[in-house]
Amino acid sequence: VVKIGGRLYTYRGSLQEIPGKEEALRAYKRLDAYVKEGGYSAALRLLEERDRSFVLSLLDRANLRGLGGAGFPTAAKWRSLLSNPDRPKYLVVNFHEGEPGTFKDRELVESNPHKLLEGTLIASLVLDVDEAIIAVREDYEAARAVLEAALEELRAFLASRGAAAPPISVVSVGGSYVVGEETALLEALEGRRGEPRVRPPYPTERGLYGKPTVVNNVETIAVLVDILRAYYEGREPAVEKRYSVTGDVERPGVYVLKMGTRLGELLKASGASDVKAVFIGGVSGGLLPGDADIALDFDGARKAGVGLGTGSVIVLSNGRCIVDAMYEVAQFFAAESCGKCEPCRLGTRELVEIMRRIKAGRATEEDLKWAESVAKTMMETSLCGLGQAAGKVFLDALGRFREEFEEHLRGVCRAGVCFR
Ligand code: NAI
Repeated sequence: VVKIGGRLYTYRGSLQEIPGKEEALRAYKRLDAYVKEGGYSAALRLLEERDRSFVLSLLDRANLRGLGGAGFPTAAKWRSLLSNPDRPKYLVVNFHEGEPGTFKDRELVESNPHKLLEGTLIASLVLDVDEAIIAVREDYEAARAVLEAALEELRAFLASRGAAAPPISVVSVGGSYVVGEETALLEALEGRRGEPRVRPPYPTERGLYGKPTVVNNVETIAVLVDILRAYYEGREPAVEKRYSVTGDVERPGVYVLKMGTRLGELLKASGASDVKAVFIGGVSGGLLPGDADIALDFDGARKAGVGLGTGSVIVLSNGRCIVDAMYEVAQFFAAESCGKCEPCRLGTRELVEIMRRIKAGRATEEDLKWAESVAKTMMETSLCGLGQAAGKVFLDALGRFREEFEEHLRGVCRAGVCFR
């Protein structure tokens, strides 16, 4: 356990040792232990309140912004749902975590599922929804088993207190990376192919089955517990953010930090050294040079020209080749593109082809210019974040490491990775 700028901890075991279902079911924090630490006290008090609208101003005060990656003000999204008179209303908790290097939600749920369930109760009560659905990506089997077991415990707990709360269900959702995009997730929940819809209308206007729906990420929902508990205990609410750190570091893991902690501190805590570049927000937020010491919050990232995104950090040391890394990134986006819109379907494939040529020393200056224009078009015209991010991270890499790309045109790979 390392402590800096807030509470920090590393992931249980190595990333290769992802716990299986049985192990996860043995290890998670049971309801009794959660309640002993004050768990469900905030949700139970909220159940007694007649007017729950004060929670919206609490979220404003805590400056809660969507922690799935986009950073949209949570209270604004909720107000949009509340002002919609249509019924039924839904809450969908997005647990289709898919960003490369991102496992912050899985770690949270596998260790402390009741925090997510309490947050789900809180959100359901404030939003007055008819049903809450926790949509879990299909291959998160252990996390789903843990959630289902915890939900059984919660149902018995609420029944023993005669507490009536909106129904919560846990649903497994298959599909690729893009199914984590909120409207693709809604499509999948409705039993269709998981492809994004055109927005607006936003889900709060027309969401699941065309009805008003708030879609919030797991972490955003879990953090509600901290905010409401602080309020009831007379403390000022503050948001902590979870960062997953991987790549060339000694201690990969999930780190919980106060918003605004410097990237340099996080890199130091995780044992990164000789850092050449850092992917931020998984890879979707962009690529930073190794010495960029930005403040890890939405505004700090924006000022540095990147997105905080999921908060995940992938570290590349000086031994890595940027071209080689970007080839992998390009392959990832091409494989995950759903193909619904042309800029993404064609652009992601085009970037793979160009990167293949650069890596093989068969590209020209013209190819770089063409790649740049393809990436710009993708960023500006793709239907959803996938194509936009694929273009953005490519432009970052080319803008910040152009020298290395140009060396490859001359057959030089300083890391000695390409041309072999
Ligand atoms: P967005 O900025 O378009 O929307 C964010 C949220 O705000 C959505 O829920 C949207 O419905 C809502 N919203 C925006 N304007 C609204 C309005 N006027 N009224 C009501 N609601 C409104 O971002 P998007 O495309 O939903 O997400 C992109 C982010 O997802 C990226 O920043 C990326 O970091 C993150 N991401 C996360 C992944 C993960 O595994 N957690 C995977 C891939 C991307």
